[in-house]
Amino acid sequence: KLRGTAKPLIGVLVPSLRNPFFADLMQSMEEHANNQVELIFQAAKDADFKANIENLVERGVNGLVIARTVERAEETFTFLKQHGVAVTVLDQANDTGMADVLTTDDYHGGQLVGEFLVNQGHQSVALIIPDIVTNNMQRRIDGFKNQWLAETRQLFEIKTVLSKHGGLAVSAKVAQLVSSGVTAAFTLNDELGIGLSRGLRNIGVKIPTDLSIIGYDNTDYSEFVNPALTTVTQPVWQLGQRALDMVTDRLKHPSMPYQAEELAVIRLVERESTQALT
Ligand code: RIB
Repeated sequence: KLRGTAKPLIGVLVPSLRNPFFADLMQSMEEHANNQVELIFQAAKDADFKANIENLVERGVNGLVIARTVERAEETFTFLKQHGVAVTVLDQANDTGMADVLTTDDYHGGQLVGEFLVNQGHQSVALIIPDIVTNNMQRRIDGFKNQWLAETRQLFEIKTVLSKHGGLAVSAKVAQLVSSGVTAAFTLNDELGIGLSRGLRNIGVKIPTDLSIIGYDNTDYSEFVNPALTTVTQPVWQLGQRALDMVTDRLKHPSMPYQAEELAVIRLVERESTQALT
């Protein structure tokens, strides 16, 4: 049921338009769409998820890329199927077998961070975790722990909101850990890392002399902040392109078996926010 223009209309739901990771993702989709596909981007908070989906269906989308956790997954996919909407879920694995899924190797990304901090000689680390741990974040945490906890090392977990403000908000707690011997923090995304770095510098903790900080995503901003953030590069460009391809393929071949694809993380990028312990 493609609309009269013959250009498919694809809705893209992300958790936040502010997070530069999603800005990069949207930019990638926009460029890849190359005027062959029309895109509508929308940010959906947990509480508004159903309303957002219904709204996009009312606006006549042919396909959806859902780049966030799918609330009440079976009900949602059934509703979308009834309306003939093709769906690709991005970043969040789901076991319903009712949609195409595109993820990245978060487990390996977490392992890269664990391995790096071990090789830099750290023994005691703070892990800054979002208050809502999504499926991909959990894989990141598991990969990290797989490396970090292979030998007896100290790990302190702190939960906060997944944003720059969330990182800022836990800086006093992290500063206390620094006084008791923590030498590095792994924040599960760049935004948390940037917020934490700002908060710690405000209270006199020096990065990386007193504490190394490592983020995740390698968003556009991470090399421009001061100190520039050490982080893990996600294949965000490829992610946007592939998600769009998957959803448009599904429109062309509605009955093909659902696909689950995983992209490799690119690499860890070492910048100024971390230092090896001598
Ligand atoms: O920064 C946003 C995070 O949410 C990213 O790490 C990405 O994986 C997304 O799920």
